[in-house]
Amino acid sequence: MLSIPTILGLVSFAAALTVDRRSMLSKKSSYPFGNIVAFGDELSDNGSGSYAHGVTGDPASVYGYDTWTNGPVAVTYLAKMLGMTLDDYAFGGCCGGSKYGATIDEAYRTSPAGAQSVKQQITNYTNAGAKDIKSSLGFVWVGENDLSEHTDAFWLGDPQNTNFAGNISSKIAEQVGRLFDLGAPYVFVANIYPKHIAPVTKKYLCNTNTDCVSTWGEVIQNANDAIESELKQFGDKIIYYDAFKYMEYVVSTASLHGFTAPDATTVYCDGMGDAIWKDCVTDKHGSHYLWMNFIQPTTKFHWYIARDMKNHIDWHFGL
Ligand SMILES: *[C@@H]1O[C@H](CO)[C@@H](O)[C@H](O)[C@H]1NC(C)=O
Ligand SMILES: *[C@@H]1O[C@H](CO)[C@@H](O)[C@H](O)[C@H]1NC(C)=O
Ligand SMILES: *[C@@H]1O[C@H](CO)[C@@H](O)[C@H](O)[C@H]1NC(C)=O
Repeated sequence: MLSIPTILGLVSFAAALTVDRRSMLSKKSSYPFGNIVAFGDELSDNGSGSYAHGVTGDPASVYGYDTWTNGPVAVTYLAKMLGMTLDDYAFGGCCGGSKYGATIDEAYRTSPAGAQSVKQQITNYTNAGAKDIKSSLGFVWVGENDLSEHTDAFWLGDPQNTNFAGNISSKIAEQVGRLFDLGAPYVFVANIYPKHIAPVTKKYLCNTNTDCVSTWGEVIQNANDAIESELKQFGDKIIYYDAFKYMEYVVSTASLHGFTAPDATTVYCDGMGDAIWKDCVTDKHGSHYLWMNFIQPTTKFHWYIARDMKNHIDWHFGL
């Protein structure tokens, strides 16, 4: 005779099997694509961009992972979470980050690192035969490198800011349209990340100007509103993801997410002296930090973003 705990054990084991099988079935069949093809900048370069093209500077492997952070980037985690293969054309910068990487289109802003813009990346992909496009989710995350030259963080009313919103939104939509023309069933677009709260802004851009961080945040938000509205032309085939809002949320609840380094919202592992580098990198406490350098999130921050991206994709498909 089976004891009560054994029966309970069997029941829950059986229940677990049923649940597992159901979730496996729904996972395999519910997404209308099986691969991700990614285009973008430092935030999505998994090592097949600036490292593979030998433009990272010294050390060539950047932080040891061939990415612009201390491990994988969000799209790499996302592909794993979805159980999909990744074809990654995103292209970061050079030389300790002093030369920024990909922009939307070199006619608008050229990368001093020689990184290919999203426009060129898509041309490359097209020239290579747009492999698996009909079974791929297009992934586009760009704008951090276009933003700086084309906006004014000190005066919201500067016409440059409106021009930026108009230009970046129409240029992103143009590139997304090319992916649909090639046959992509869906395209995921993450909006411009909240660069105003990256450590660089307060420290180097705004200095003592107290309004500049929030003003720049509004400039970015306005550009993101324009991007969202411009992408509406593609209907449900667009999965618009609010990276700006989610990253602001994580930063505002840093310690709840385990980012427990002192002053985690302003410190960064690379560039604030030996003690922080030692703690973050040598002693492997990188998971306590939000920012790898003054502009790039740590890999743990990327992981949270990936998880939220996946939740958003599931929500899009009613899963
Ligand atoms: C980056 O993506 C490419 C596909 O484009 C893949 O071959 C490579 O293994 C990936 N690298 C990492 C470190 O995930
Ligand atoms: C783009 O294509 C060129 C020529 O085919 C190739 O050398 C280069 O590595 C490609 N770039 C990317 C980012 O895939
Ligand atoms: C793009 O910016 C230029 C100025 O640099 C401006 O003349 C033009 O109107 C902008 N385009 C859009 C669509 O807003």
